[in-house]
Amino acid sequence: MHIKPIALERLPALLRAMPKAELHMHVEGSLEPEMIFAMAQRNAVPLAYPGIEALRQAYVFDNLQSFLDIYHAGTTVLKTEQDFFDMADAYLARAQTDNVLHTEIFFDTQTHTGHGTSVETVINGLYRACAEAPARHGMTASLILCFLRHLSEAEAFECLEQALPLRDKIVGIGLASSEVGHPPEKFAKVFARAKQLGYRLVAHAGEEAPPAYIWSALDALKVERIDHGVQAIHDSALMQRLVKDRVPLTVCPLSNLKLRVFPTLAQHTLKRMLDAGIMATINSDDPAYFGGYINENFTQTFAALGLTAQHAYQLARNSFDASFIDVSLRNQYLQRLDRVFETFE
Ligand code: ADE
Ligand code: ZN
Repeated sequence: MHIKPIALERLPALLRAMPKAELHMHVEGSLEPEMIFAMAQRNAVPLAYPGIEALRQAYVFDNLQSFLDIYHAGTTVLKTEQDFFDMADAYLARAQTDNVLHTEIFFDTQTHTGHGTSVETVINGLYRACAEAPARHGMTASLILCFLRHLSEAEAFECLEQALPLRDKIVGIGLASSEVGHPPEKFAKVFARAKQLGYRLVAHAGEEAPPAYIWSALDALKVERIDHGVQAIHDSALMQRLVKDRVPLTVCPLSNLKLRVFPTLAQHTLKRMLDAGIMATINSDDPAYFGGYINENFTQTFAALGLTAQHAYQLARNSFDASFIDVSLRNQYLQRLDRVFETFE
């Protein structure tokens, strides 16, 4: 499609109005401090922080692990199916205001079963929020269950087996948590089993760890999308592979900034990747912790990197093309995208 050039000061409005899909957002990372305190109170869970502002003040990170520690503390307030519904529904309501038409929500069960909460409680609460998303928020949503890579492959197998009775409520399997020292190939067998079961496959790779982790996510795990993948820029053969095979990368710029993957947003490699032909998307990762939901990721990244309306259209299109929705829904969403670009003044 021909994209009309638009005035620089109108670009943020276009980014906000533009229909989009979000493909990399951990629902536990959408728990705002207000909701953490409300759930702590209703479930009588003690917190290490005296109040909402003190908790928010603690959101300063040196790297992925320093974030994961505090993120894990926040998850201890989640106890009931209603808690999981409320968390996901709050995210969906917020995503709707950013013109997200479709989202594929990451969650994990191992964190919660580790606190004595059942797999059914987690999945049924989240699934109900997704099932009600069209009526409540005018959008579609599905679930991707992430294994925690700092745990063993045997524990990932156990997690997969526990979710089997609820398998129709999940579209895909992913891999998250502490990356360095836990390479994708550690989970090759359990990913092969998940594929056999009909799940779509994704994995975090190349967030902090080197390009080798992206190669093995593709070759050993056979994933269809790479979450983050920003370290690919250091390996030209890998960049060529990602372009040739149209492997989507779900990039999360504010996450990369807050976890110090890049010192500033202006040094983010997203523009170089897009201009090299990589099928990148923009996502929020853990929006309650990283200072913004998806539109904030778009507007800050566009301002820092000097991205254009053409890049905006490409990123939105990529988000629908990379999603796991069926062809007819994808075409409807792409038509809505085109209409916004045709009529935007
Ligand atoms: N879990 C939640 N956010 C994550 C991230 N950015 N990387 C790995 N695991 C995560
Ligand atoms: Zn992530």
